[in-house]
This record gives sequence, C-alpha cells and structure tokens, in this order.
Amino acid sequence: MSGGSLFDIGSFISRAKSEEFWPDLRSIVDENSTQSAIVEAVIEKSVNSPDWAQKFYRTPLPNVKDGSLNFASGVPDIAYTLRAGLLNAQTLDAFWRKHREPKDSYKVLDFGCGSGRILRFPAEFGDRIVVRGCEVNEYAVNWIRENFPCAVDRIERPFDLGFVTEPVDLIYAWSIFTHFSEREHLLWLESLAGKLAPGGIMLLTFKPLTMVDRIETDPAYRKLARAEKLSVAELKEKAANGYLFYECYDAERSVQHGVDPVTFGNTFIDVGYIRRYWRRFGDVVEIGTAVEGYQDVVVLKKRKVDGIAGWVGDRIAVLRAALGV
Ligand SMILES: C[S@@+](CC[C@H](N)C(=O)[O-])C[C@H]1O[C@@H](n2cnc3c(N)ncnc32)[C@H](O)[C@@H]1O
Repeated sequence: MSGGSLFDIGSFISRAKSEEFWPDLRSIVDENSTQSAIVEAVIEKSVNSPDWAQKFYRTPLPNVKDGSLNFASGVPDIAYTLRAGLLNAQTLDAFWRKHREPKDSYKVLDFGCGSGRILRFPAEFGDRIVVRGCEVNEYAVNWIRENFPCAVDRIERPFDLGFVTEPVDLIYAWSIFTHFSEREHLLWLESLAGKLAPGGIMLLTFKPLTMVDRIETDPAYRKLARAEKLSVAELKEKAANGYLFYECYDAERSVQHGVDPVTFGNTFIDVGYIRRYWRRFGDVVEIGTAVEGYQDVVVLKKRKVDGIAGWVGDRIAVLRAALGV
C-alpha cells in the first residue's frame, strides 16, 4: 500500500458536507459550489462563530492578536490565517506527493510550527501520516500541546533536535529559512538532514534574492520586509555572495519568546546559492513557487545510498559545492 497525504482536501470537504456542519453552511453554499467556495464558507462561518469553528476543527483557533502566541509569525487576522494555512498545506502536499518514496505511512515534522497555522491541517486532515511540530517559542509550544491532537516539542538549544528519535520521512519548514542568518541556516540544514530517512524529503520555503528590488519599488513590501530604515543599495552590497540577512526583530521581545534576534531576522537567498551549497544536504530535486511573488520552495531529497558509497557520494557533493562545479 502507498499513498497518504499531508492535507486531504477531500476529507475537509466531506466534513463540511456532513450532517453535522452542512445545514449551517447551506445559507452560503450549495451542492454545486466549488471546493474553494466551500472552503471560504467554512472560513466565514468559523470567523463569525468560534464555537462552530472549534467543533469543525476539533481544535480552538489561536488568538492571532496575542503577540506572545504569534511572535515573529503571521498576520493578526484569523480569516487570513485559516485561508493561508490551508493553501500552504495543499501546496506542501502537492510538492511532497510528486517526490516522495511510496510507503504505508509517513513520519512528518513541522519545523518552526508557530501557533500551528499549517500544522492544524495535517494534524486534523492528514492521511496515513504521524505529524509532530517543534518550535522555539515556549508559549506557542504550550498552547499547541494543550489544544492540538499531535505532539509538539520545544527547541531548547540551537541545532539540537534530540527529541526526534526516529528517522522522519518529511520535514517542512514554512517561513523559517526566510529568516536565518547564513551560518545558522547551514547548521540547521545539517541538523535537519541528519534526522531525515534515506529518500526522505525536506520542503523549505525561502525568499528569492530577486525580491530585494521590490523593497525599493513597493512601500507595502518594504514594510512587510521590515526594511523601512535600511538602504537598498547597502542591502544589495551585503548580498554579494547570494545570501542576504539583516536583523529586524526587537531584541528584548525576541529573547522573551525564545527567538535569537541576531540569527533570526529577514533573509533573501539567490537560487544559484541554493543550488551550489544546499546539495551537501541532499539533492535539490525542484525549486518551485510556494506563494506567487512572496516565497518559493526548495525540495531537498536525502540520497538513498548508505554505507561507504553514500559517504563517498556525500563527500563528493561537499567538494563540488566548495569548488562551485
Ligand atoms: C514566520 S513564523 C512561521 C511559523 C509557521 N511555520 C507558519 O508558517 O505559520 C516563524 C517561526 O519561527 C520560529 N523560530 C524562531 N527561531 C527559530 C529557530 N531557531 N528554530 C525554529 N523556529 C524558530 C518563531 O518562533 C516563529 O514561530
């Protein structure tokens, strides 16, 4: 048997159409409505009726206006959070299905799950997966632990994933490698790759370096990128090796929420840099769109060769990366 999914939209729609929920949605949609219309109806109903939402999702919605729960994450708007979480889960599912190895069931890790914007969907509507989350923000970890039907661990020390005791088939990190400093991101990649089963997949979103130009031309984006006080010329100079990182979070609040403001800020990476340096952690099998105009995603697949052949293959990849060939 093989299959399984990170987020099964079919089971989401079936739940919406079940006797328990459909009568409440009938004033917004009907049998002939599209899947996206039904998703929007569920969001509308959830926003207007938190009790209904809690029954539908089985887990409470996060208070997106709580700055401690959502520190360094998200937009304080629950409709946006639900819509983006679902769409992002669907996007991850599509990339994963395309590249994974067939198995009966899969172990999945959400690295940097925040308050579960995406994790909610695999945890509730995943098929043949065992998903868990991890996060540095203790407040968010405790909230997920109390409310979600899946495990979550607190990352206590940099690069230490000791709580992952068995190889994982899929690791996804959404809006995480969009924030690390260069050194930090390489060490985290190494640590994550070490937890991946042979043939396992990492799906890692990043902001392409080409988007730095938008800081100059689009004031709303400049604000979103927390780059209001920065000179684009200086940023471009900083990005000379294809990796741009700048600090952008309030130091005191970051530390309070487990985030290191010196190594976690805002990051743009050149696709050439990724192709050159990330292959030491696996094969970059695809780079695609995660959210058009905002983030792309790297599909990194762990090589399957074990033993001496695998070791030699990895060393060659490291050497080629160092030589840029
Ligand atoms: C932009 S949010 C993304 C959250 C979630 N992945 C999502 O898409 O909703 C970034 C998250 O990274 C977490 N974070 C900060 N430093 C981290 C680290 N060193 N390792 C893992 N997560 C970290 C923050 O606490 C925050 O929840």
